[in-house]
Amino acid sequence: MFDYKTLIYNSAKNVLNGLEPSDVTAADAFCDYCVPCFKFAKILRKSPAAIAAEAAAQLTIDGIKVEALNGYLNFTIERESFIRHAFDKAADYKPLDGKTVCLDYSSVNIAKPFHIGHLMTTVIGGSLCNIYRELGAKVVGINHLGDWGTQFGGLISAYRRWGDEARLNERGLDELLELYVRYHNESEKDEAVAAEAREWSKKIESGDPYAVGLFEKFKAITLEQAKKVYRRLNIEFDSYLGESFYVDKVPAVEKKLQDKGLLKMSDGAEIVELTDDMPPALIRRSDGASLYIARDLAAAYYRKANYDFDKCLYVVASHQALHFKQLFKVLELLGEPWAQDMVHVSYGMVSVEGMSLSTRRGNVLYLSDVLDSAVEKAAAIIAERNPDLQDKTRVAESVGVGAVVFGALYDGKLKDKNFSLESALNFDGETGPYVQYTHARCRSVLAKAGYKPSQKIDWSQLIDDEAYEVVKLLADFDEVVYTAAVKYEPSVVSRRLVKICQAFNRFYNADRIMCGGETEKARLELTLRVADALKRGLRLVLLDAPEKM
Ligand code: ARG
Repeated sequence: MFDYKTLIYNSAKNVLNGLEPSDVTAADAFCDYCVPCFKFAKILRKSPAAIAAEAAAQLTIDGIKVEALNGYLNFTIERESFIRHAFDKAADYKPLDGKTVCLDYSSVNIAKPFHIGHLMTTVIGGSLCNIYRELGAKVVGINHLGDWGTQFGGLISAYRRWGDEARLNERGLDELLELYVRYHNESEKDEAVAAEAREWSKKIESGDPYAVGLFEKFKAITLEQAKKVYRRLNIEFDSYLGESFYVDKVPAVEKKLQDKGLLKMSDGAEIVELTDDMPPALIRRSDGASLYIARDLAAAYYRKANYDFDKCLYVVASHQALHFKQLFKVLELLGEPWAQDMVHVSYGMVSVEGMSLSTRRGNVLYLSDVLDSAVEKAAAIIAERNPDLQDKTRVAESVGVGAVVFGALYDGKLKDKNFSLESALNFDGETGPYVQYTHARCRSVLAKAGYKPSQKIDWSQLIDDEAYEVVKLLADFDEVVYTAAVKYEPSVVSRRLVKICQAFNRFYNADRIMCGGETEKARLELTLRVADALKRGLRLVLLDAPEKM
């Protein structure tokens, strides 16, 4: 947005000795500023009111009305000037140019279905990738696969006992989930099952070709399903290096810990004692198995060495808060200055209309099922609202999936959510479909008018309250995107999108667009700006922007 503050400061400092940049503050109204004159009273030996009045008399700034009131110097931006500045296309806004951001998100677990519990990490991470990229950063999206652990031994053993290749090929993850649940139940009752599982898990570790082959098959099945979901969500990863990749890189971490005198033995296990009332970090169990945090330490070093990140974000549920606190602390104790660049982007729980989440017992809600159901509902709504729409299937997909994603990204990320598809699909609510529909409405107005962007617009045609409100919401959209990046909070963008739509719809109802002459041209230009901003914002929060709905 145009920097009025600096303009005001640079002009006012000539008439107010001792004025500092911080003395110019944004007043209550959005685009207005003021300078309280009280602090000058002592030095100048005059009343604040007199100082303000004298300064106001001496000061003229193009496009800004200057007034003195009750010891304040008030600056009101003239609407026409504001609009001109807002729509004078400045150079591309790339405040994060040259920065590299690693984003560890979604990070699914092999042989587990892609359930609703992975929705938040996936959409927050995917959206942050788009936001950072748009701001000029180089982004590395990483799916840190959960592909290491004793459960895979259990799965192989279950597959051999009760599974069958044809059924696995046909049913994929459903079969794996059932096998896993069965393994889990039986191993609780029968120690032999658990022992066999341990054997298989050792075989995977030692690279036994049969065991590794089966595991790779489970992995392929899981990723195939996950990638289908990612395509629907408009998400792509740059890396799928999972936990197993880091297993042989743990010894190098242990060496660093050893060299710093940080590695302690406790009952045969390797630990790092931590300060700050944290339990110690468990690096290696007494049976020789490395732990989750050890692989994360190795991954952190790998990322720093390979990407030289300025920030490394982990979009992971809040229940892993302690894990990340410990991880960052160990890196700090190791003396790595970049430990400060690691951030746990935490978020709350999601449930869909009261269903609880537990993969363990097979009581799972698949994300793809939630998306399908939203798309089905969207198709029904579209068939009713616009039966002649071409490309209905594609639009229903965009609207249905978009409703779920936008719903997930609309509240602050830490808030627990209970999802209702009905309200997420409400075309008149604060929803994805509402934003998509407003976008399509803008496009249809433009198409009907046959509007071609014109060079000269008379901005004074947009100074009425309704149009001006829209302008204001577009004017600082770049800064809104930046705020979302700094706060790791895509909802900052989605909320602004809804505000723009609400303001546009008020404008659309109050001001006739097709009214001829310069006014019509200016209103169409505003409509185009709105459409472009909505399309851009929708993409930032992973949604399509259909041209027609
Ligand atoms: N796979 C883990 C889970 O589903 C999340 C991994 C997060 N990333 C990491 N580097 N620890 O809970």
